[in-house]
Amino acid sequence: MSGADEPIVLGIETSCDETGIGIVRGHTLLADTIASSMEEHARFGGVVPEVASRAHLEAMTPTVESALAKAGLRFSDIDAVAVTAGPGLAGALLVGVAAAKAYAMGLGVPLYGVNHLAAHVAVDQLEHGPLPKPAIALLVSGGHSSLLLVPDVARDVVSLGSTVDDAAGEAFDKVARVLGLPFPGGPHIDRAAREGSGTAVAFPRGKYDDGTLDFSFSGLKTAVARWVEARAAAGESVPMNDVAASFQEAVVDVLTRKALQACARHGVEDLLIGGGVAANSRLRALAQERCDAAGVRLRVPRPGLCTDNGAMVAALGSELVAAGAEPSTLEIPADSSLPITTIHI
Ligand code: KG4
Ligand code: ZN
Repeated sequence: MSGADEPIVLGIETSCDETGIGIVRGHTLLADTIASSMEEHARFGGVVPEVASRAHLEAMTPTVESALAKAGLRFSDIDAVAVTAGPGLAGALLVGVAAAKAYAMGLGVPLYGVNHLAAHVAVDQLEHGPLPKPAIALLVSGGHSSLLLVPDVARDVVSLGSTVDDAAGEAFDKVARVLGLPFPGGPHIDRAAREGSGTAVAFPRGKYDDGTLDFSFSGLKTAVARWVEARAAAGESVPMNDVAASFQEAVVDVLTRKALQACARHGVEDLLIGGGVAANSRLRALAQERCDAAGVRLRVPRPGLCTDNGAMVAALGSELVAAGAEPSTLEIPADSSLPITTIHI
């Protein structure tokens, strides 16, 4: 199928605080609407699951309707429904999965329960076309940091390494808190770091030379907290921009180093970076620099497609339809700990 003949897929994402609705036709993005409950969580310094679930419930129908209006489509135009079945917050996932079942049943179209992490990989195809097979994917979000070998995003995803403690985004959020920046901290650290020096403080780089493709960010986070505490205890001011830049440099140095090691070890010349932390400007710049030096082609979606959204779910759904994957049954659960290797359930 191609062009106007390709199926139209509605994607529903509710794994965390964003109610994301995407509509695609093949690899063409028709609509991507988001309702976020982040403002309701910010004062708690993290996402409150019950608040997120309630917000999804309220936002679901209007967000779906606004996506349809934006795409200039009616419900009857939808050929398939895809939904994040996991991993994520159980109650939040449940709202999306229940809504997707209702839409699929009501419209008489197939349902695809998909993996949130594989969707972060698949979304890049909306912007840069079909993913080379195989590709290496570096997936960095608030809940996950993984290196993946992706022979085929609809059929086969292999885990090469992951974080042994905090996720990269989690480290950004925790360090932001230490520096008194709002939640979620990633974008604030990114901004502060532009005014600071990445070499001002030599923060530790966990698992730098351990030979694995795993990550560790908890020691770095603690080192930043201790450094800031020591300055404060000595009555000295904390150079926030320099600390932000030096912390960020430590994270992106390890991420890009291991991503290129993965490419070299597996003889793969295409690297994709996805997930919320892929929106980081320094990560994007250093990855480009190191990929150019190594002769590796780099693909990173635009920042709005890196953070959670519905388009990524629709993109993976569309890929599954094209691959002839078996649709999900109406009995599928929301699986908060769905492993990355399970692309759809
Ligand atoms: O993929 P995502 O939207 O949600 C999860 O699936 O977790 O990722 C959210 C994470 C948060 O930790 C946030 O601080 C981080 O992505 N993030 C960033 C940036 N934008 C979002 N981290 C660093 N720099 C950014 N510009
Ligand atoms: Zn995500």
